[in-house]
Amino acid sequence: MKAARRQSATGHSAKAAAGGGSAEAALLDELRPGQSLELLKELHILTREGRLNQDSRRKLKQVYHLFQFIEPLLSDLAGAGSDGGRGPTLADHGAGKSYLGFILYDLYFKALGHGHIYGIETRAELVDKSRALAERLGFGRMSFLNLSVAESTGASELPAQIDVVTALHACDTATDDAIAFGLQKRAKAMVLVPCCQAEVAACLRQGKALQLARTPLAELWRHPLHTRELGSQITNVLRCLHLEASGYQVTVTELVGWEHSMKNELIIARYTGQKKRSAAQRLEAILAEFGLVDSLAGRFGLVLEATPATHVEPPPV
Ligand SMILES: C[S@@+](CC[C@H](N)C(=O)[O-])C[C@H]1O[C@@H](n2cnc3c(N)ncnc32)[C@H](O)[C@@H]1O
Repeated sequence: MKAARRQSATGHSAKAAAGGGSAEAALLDELRPGQSLELLKELHILTREGRLNQDSRRKLKQVYHLFQFIEPLLSDLAGAGSDGGRGPTLADHGAGKSYLGFILYDLYFKALGHGHIYGIETRAELVDKSRALAERLGFGRMSFLNLSVAESTGASELPAQIDVVTALHACDTATDDAIAFGLQKRAKAMVLVPCCQAEVAACLRQGKALQLARTPLAELWRHPLHTRELGSQITNVLRCLHLEASGYQVTVTELVGWEHSMKNELIIARYTGQKKRSAAQRLEAILAEFGLVDSLAGRFGLVLEATPATHVEPPPV
């Protein structure tokens, strides 16, 4: 296995890249067959001299950890033939430097020979850099779109259906936009690592009059730090219920190894088609308990009944 890895890591001579001796052996042990050393350098996982230090070894492990969740989803699609033979399509929202997309392409899409990855990012300079890097590496089935997540939902550059949606630390409500995108594109799977979320916390702060505020449970958000954390927690719970109510089976786990980030909750949703009514009911109940119906029902897919218009008698003539 190690010998196979030694022969197949590409992009540069592995020996030259590793710098020889035991450093070489250590590096080759970490690499997957066919993995591009040039990409790892561009992503600063390998140093320019091709070395793997303690920090970059941890970074590589983190990337593999995330890959281990996404790869089976992609393989299931191919196995079920539900990609129609065109190969899987994946949209990565709030792509940043697109390291997730690049690693997925390098470890999976490259050898597969078909399928397409779309990186969606609002910062034009990052989009330009990703386009240039994909071209340099010959990653021809990657596209980068300078759009917001919300804009991308109706964008003509994207196909009507996308198989897998990822959003890794997409800021604030961009995760919710990614879920809306996934629902619209009939995604088979969504992999979400939410970022900071301020909207619910702001609503909690304002909701002085809500029922719970008069109970000991108000302690849950009395201190500003707790308000923020509870806001994030409620948001992610609502997101999971929204996905379950929309026909997805949801798993919540930890993105182990992401110590540099406080936000390491990983939500994996797979489409089953079974829309859970109980999830919709609980979603609605939680929104009501926390006084969030008016501000957030639409975001989480609840259709509010229109308030009946007050009947006004016409003035006497
Ligand atoms: C914290 S970075 C994460 C980048 C990358 N996903 C990662 O994990 O390394 C968030 C990225 O999302 C982008 N972003 C924020 N809001 C966005 C939106 N509504 N639509 C698209 N991109 C967005 C930001 O410009 C930034 O590059």
